[in-house]
Amino acid sequence: MRHQTPVTQLPSWIALGSHSTALKALHLRDLFASDPARANRFSLEAEGIFLDYSKNRITDETLALLLQLARESGLAESIEAMFRGDAINLTEKRSVLHTALRAPRTAEIFSGGVNVVPDVHAVLDKMEVFAERVRSGEWTGHTGKRVKTVVNIGIGGSDLGPVMAYEALRHYSARDLQFRFVSNVDGTDFAEATLDLDASETLFLVASKTFTTLETMTNARTARQWLLASLGDEAAIAKHFAAISTNAAEVSKFGIDTANMFGFWDWVGGRYSMDSAIGLSTMIAIGGANFRAMLAGFHAMDTHFRTAPFEQNLPVLLGLLGILYTNFFGAQTSAVLPYDQYLKRFPAYLQQLTMESNGKSVTVDSAAVDYETGAIYWGEPGTNGQHSFYQLIHQGTKLIPCDFIGFAKSLNPLGAHHDILVANLFAQAEALAFGKTSDEVRAQGTADWLVPHRTFSGNRPSNMILAEELTPEILGKLVALYEHAVFTQGIIWRIDSFDQWGVELGKVLAMKIVPELQSETEPAETHDASTNHLIRWYRSRR
Ligand code: F6P
Repeated sequence: MRHQTPVTQLPSWIALGSHSTALKALHLRDLFASDPARANRFSLEAEGIFLDYSKNRITDETLALLLQLARESGLAESIEAMFRGDAINLTEKRSVLHTALRAPRTAEIFSGGVNVVPDVHAVLDKMEVFAERVRSGEWTGHTGKRVKTVVNIGIGGSDLGPVMAYEALRHYSARDLQFRFVSNVDGTDFAEATLDLDASETLFLVASKTFTTLETMTNARTARQWLLASLGDEAAIAKHFAAISTNAAEVSKFGIDTANMFGFWDWVGGRYSMDSAIGLSTMIAIGGANFRAMLAGFHAMDTHFRTAPFEQNLPVLLGLLGILYTNFFGAQTSAVLPYDQYLKRFPAYLQQLTMESNGKSVTVDSAAVDYETGAIYWGEPGTNGQHSFYQLIHQGTKLIPCDFIGFAKSLNPLGAHHDILVANLFAQAEALAFGKTSDEVRAQGTADWLVPHRTFSGNRPSNMILAEELTPEILGKLVALYEHAVFTQGIIWRIDSFDQWGVELGKVLAMKIVPELQSETEPAETHDASTNHLIRWYRSRR
C-alpha cells in the first residue's frame, strides 16, 4: 500500500496542529460554563453503551477536524476492507476477520475465496457440546470422576482473553467448577495452580494458536508429566487434555487426540481470539447460551462500527480522542479504570490489545514514522486505584487521559456499596475535569503556604463509559469497542495493527541462551559484555 500524502501533511492533521495550540489554552471549567448543552452534545448512547466524552479537551471544531482526519485517512474504506476479508495484515499477508467469529450463521464472509462462517459455527457447535458435557459431569476423567477444575494453559492472547472473560463473567459461571490459568514459564505459576488439585478431576486446555510457544509448550509438558505421575497411564491424556490451536500437526505430535482439538484460523490474531475456540474455558464456565450472548454483543458493536456515521460511532470517537492526546497533546499513556471488581483483568487484557497492536514505528509503506503511535495503556479497578496512583493523575506533571467504566446495576447489590462505588466514579471524573482553584482553597481558610498543595489544576480529560449491567453481551460490546478503536488509530497512524514482529527477537535470543545456562561446560561468550556477565553470574549460583 502506498500513501501519496504523509499523514502529517493531511489538511486535517496540519489544522489540528494549530488548533491544538489554541485548545491548550482552554479550560474544561470555561468550556462547560459557556455551553450548557455540552454534556448532551458530546455524549452518545449506542448498543447499550453510553459514552460521555464531554470532559475531553475538545470543541466542536476539534471534533470536526478529528472526523475530517478519519475521512482523509480513508477509514471508511479500511473498515470495509477488514470486514470484507481483504489481506489487511500486510506484513503477514493475512485477512483480519475476528469479526467473522461472531457473525451469525447465515452470514457469508470470505477469506481466500472461502466462506469462513460455516467453519466458525461448526467449531462453536463442537465447543458447546464439549462444554456442556464438562458442565453436566457427563465428561469424566480417566478414573471415571467428573471434572472439578479446568486449567487453561496459554499465554498472551491465549491467556489474557480467557482469564479476563472468566473473571468478568464469574457471576454467570458454574460454581461447581473452578478455573485456573497458567501462563508464565516461571514454574511457580504451574506449581501454585496445581498444588491442591487432584489429577483425576482436572482438565487441561492447552490454548495456543501456533502450538509452538515456548512458555505454553513447557507448561503443557509439565502438565502432562504431572498428570501421568498421578494417573500413571498414557491413555489418561485423552480424557484430561484438550487443545485449542490452528496447528493440528503439532497438537497430535504433542499426544493430544485431535478429536479433542478445537480449531481456529490464521485470520484470527492472538489478541483478537477470545471469542474463537480460545474462549473454550469461558464457554465451559458460563455455558453455551451465555457465550453466544457475548458473541451477539461483539457482533452488535461490529455492526455499529461498520454502519454508524463517524460522528455517532463509538469506536471511531474513542479512537480519535486517543489520537488527539497522543499526537497533539503529547500524552504518553492512557489509563483504563473500570469501576467493577469483575473487570479487574480488563486493563491487562487491553494492554495486549492496544500495545501489541499499535506499538509500531514503521508504516505500512515501510517508512519510519515521524509522529507518535500507540499509547501506553494501564490501569486498575476503582476504587482501589484512587488510593494508589490517582494522586499523580490529579496533581502530577503528566497528562493522562482516562477511560472510566461503570455500571448502573451491581451484580452483587449489598447495602450502599454500589451507590458509593458509582459516586466515587463520577467524583473522580469531576475532580479531574474541574479541579479546585486556589481561590476556592483559600476561601476554605487554608494557610497561604498550603494553598498550592491543595489546589487541583483540573482540565484533565476523561471518557465515561457506562452500561446498565455487566452481562456477557455487554462484555462483548465493550471488548469490540476497544478492538475497533485500536483499528481506527492504526489506520490513522498507517501501521499494521495485526502483526507483532517486536516480540520475535527476544524469543530467538532466549532460545540461544537456554542451552548456555544449562550446559555442563562453560559456553563460549558470544554475547555483549553485559549479557555474558549475567550468564556467568547465573551459572555460578544456579
Ligand atoms: O507475544 C506474541 C504472541 O504471538 C501473541 O501475539 C500471542 O497472543 C501469544 O504470543 C501466544 O501465542 P500462541 O497462541 O501461538 O501460543
